Amino acid sequence: MKAAYYQGQRQFRVGEGQAVAPGPGEVRLEVAFCGVCGTDVHIYHGVMDRRVAIPQVIGHEAAGRIAELGPGVTGFQLGDRVAVRPLKPGEPAPVDNGYTHIGKNLKFIGIDTPGAMQASWTVPAYTLHRLPDSLPLDHAALIEPLAVACHDVRLARVQAGENAVVIGGGPIGLLIALVARELGAKVLVSEVNAKRLELAAGFGLATVNPSTENLVEAVARFSQDAMADVVFEVSGTAAGVEAMTQLPRIRGRIVMVAIHSQRQPVDLFQFFWRELQLIGVRVYEAEDFDEAIRLAASGRLPLERIITRIAPLDDVQQVFQEIDENPAGMKYLLQCGKEPLSR
Ligand SMILES: NC(=O)c1ccc[n+]([C@@H]2O[C@H](COP(=O)([O-])OP(=O)(O)OC[C@H]3O[C@@H](n4cnc5c(N)ncnc54)[C@H](O)[C@@H]3O)[C@@H](O)[C@H]2O)c1
Ligand SMILES: [Zn+2]
Repeated sequence: MKAAYYQGQRQFRVGEGQAVAPGPGEVRLEVAFCGVCGTDVHIYHGVMDRRVAIPQVIGHEAAGRIAELGPGVTGFQLGDRVAVRPLKPGEPAPVDNGYTHIGKNLKFIGIDTPGAMQASWTVPAYTLHRLPDSLPLDHAALIEPLAVACHDVRLARVQAGENAVVIGGGPIGLLIALVARELGAKVLVSEVNAKRLELAAGFGLATVNPSTENLVEAVARFSQDAMADVVFEVSGTAAGVEAMTQLPRIRGRIVMVAIHSQRQPVDLFQFFWRELQLIGVRVYEAEDFDEAIRLAASGRLPLERIITRIAPLDDVQQVFQEIDENPAGMKYLLQCGKEPLSR
């Protein structure tokens, strides 16, 4: 069976992998499609080499079919179509406060343990979410990032009729915008890349380019001077952090989705002056996967158009190079098995 190994130094090698027989409580999947996440690109750039056990199969945005059940697995059958919630919570710790999805002993499957960029992948059965027949497996490879968006919108407490501003229209920001709109929010996407702006506008979302327009004025116009009930910072930039405190109305919420590995100056005065709230969000919980599957299966989201390209696993090296060269691209999927494309 085929597997793509990250080798370090921006290199992948596609070779023969070993299918792992599922142990107690585990299942072996035939992976159909695996999406490439921003985190996978970070791994490719070498910035996570201390965390990844090189050579390692990476990838965590996967959908496939159950090929083998380990001892003691109930509730699933061979052939079931599933998406994987790639979190191994480990032993609960007191500091977790019950939230093991980001707990102290969490292992992220596909980063800390082998991932899905291979034809066969063995994972704990508790990570699986069954997929409705109506949801094609290439679309289902987007369930993981869509679950991120569902988590973020849920923790943001978005209500129908609210004004939401999304700073950063990459895959995650765009999915947040679409999920918030499904809940009845009025959504404005702020993005600097012209092609990504065009894509968002094509989905009927309001857009603004903060490098050519005054963002504060644009939000005022969009909201008829009410300003934003909720602002999602999804750009990961200093400019995004600078903007995020300028846009909310009194008692507005700011949701920190982006991973800022550098410390950024934040205008804390605004939290006092306008009684703002800051909400941190990280990955997802099981209910966010359920909601993501429900939304994806509803057919109401333009998932097809968020997929830039589906390439065979053999082309993994070329795909990562293309992602680096094409900042307007959105989701790239690797076809890991024999499952045909839905289009
Ligand atoms: N909280 C979580 O659990 C979680 C999960 C997944 C991803 N993330 C993070 O979310 C962020 C977004 O992920 P992504 O895959 O969409 O990344 P991305 O880099 O594709 O998207 C960021 C977008 O912000 C745009 N941008 C840059 N400067 C801007 C500015 N000044 N104003 C407005 N837009 C600007 C970029 O053009 C880009 O389109 C990343 O930081 C990622 O690490 C967090
Ligand atoms: Zn991801």
